[in-house]
Amino acid sequence: SPHALVDQFGRTVSYLRMSVTDRCDLRCVYCMAEDMTFLPRHEVLSHEEMLRLAGAFTRLGVTKLRLTGGEPLVRQGIVDLVARMSQLPGLQELCMTTNGTRLEQFADDLKTAGLDRINVSLDTLDEEKFRALTRFGKVEKVLAGIRAAQRAGFKRIKINCVALKNRNASEVVALVDYALNEGLDISFIEEMPLGKIDSHGRAAEFISSDELREMIGERFALLPSSANSGGPARYWISPGYESRIGFISPHSQNFCASCNRVRMTATGRLLLCLGQEHSADLRAVLRDNPGDDAILERAIIDAMALKPKEHTFDLDADEPQIVRFMNTTGG
Ligand code: GTP
Ligand code: 5AD
Ligand code: SF4
Repeated sequence: SPHALVDQFGRTVSYLRMSVTDRCDLRCVYCMAEDMTFLPRHEVLSHEEMLRLAGAFTRLGVTKLRLTGGEPLVRQGIVDLVARMSQLPGLQELCMTTNGTRLEQFADDLKTAGLDRINVSLDTLDEEKFRALTRFGKVEKVLAGIRAAQRAGFKRIKINCVALKNRNASEVVALVDYALNEGLDISFIEEMPLGKIDSHGRAAEFISSDELREMIGERFALLPSSANSGGPARYWISPGYESRIGFISPHSQNFCASCNRVRMTATGRLLLCLGQEHSADLRAVLRDNPGDDAILERAIIDAMALKPKEHTFDLDADEPQIVRFMNTTGG
């Protein structure tokens, strides 16, 4: 039955974010340690298992599905997976969050396969800063990927930028300028402390959404937008432009009261919150009950009771409270 997924705080879950792989061709400093060990293949869900899960969620009222990673476009057969996911009854929106390095190659096929929307991670337009942040990325490749997605006909492409005080905050106005002129939406994200990284202190790199908005406001007029996805972002617009400028502020403005989402790791662990460990092992349910979707649906409904009220990030903690990295979590 639709809307079977309600948690103890009365929030309805209608949005599933699914990590299709923990692997990535980049190593963004806020996301991964430099020497990552990736999951052995048998730990990762097969296409069939992911489809079975997504089918159960859509029967329970999920209408929006986002494929994430790691980098979803490094997963073998991703276009075929998208094509099959897009056929799920009840699904209104199939989205992907990608680092963009392979969009030149994949944009047309993804469009044909039925993908509705793409968000691209892009933290700076500066070649050297980009390499410093991603450890081996080429910004030109990502920009070409975004152009390919535009040419393929994707609408409302969104840039995601994790803003770090000493690494890319100086690039924020240039990114907004780029987004406005290209007709792209853009969201700025306060870094979340997931996993133990070696490249910087999380607190030292913190810059609030208000500070960013002030910097942007000196160059572009900003008005609050009525658009609200129900998601964590607060949106603004600049008169004369189509773009939405969003701010995701896990530290400076908590948005958990309106949370509508859960996450599936690449290993089939259902995470009820990005910033807490409450979870349910749906891979075990899948593999122990082949062909019995009633049991799977029951396990998903029961897991909603585990959804915590909110995340409680502490930027000053010496050791991370959450040891899993963003790449296994799916952003
Ligand atoms: P839209 O469909 O465009 O609204 O995308 P989205 O914001 O749901 O997805 P996207 O992948 O662009 O998410 C942007 C970032 O916001 C994520 O990578 C996270 O860093 C952050 N974010 C999204 N949802 C949550 C959440 O539930 N909790 C927290 N703490 N952060 C979130
Ligand atoms: N804090 C906030 N956002 C992050 N992302 C990756 N790691 C972090 C982090 N530690 C973002 C990426 C991408 C999305 C999936 O998650 O930039 O846009
Ligand atoms: Fe890869 Fe995305 Fe993590 Fe960067 S943020 S290392 S692109 S998974």
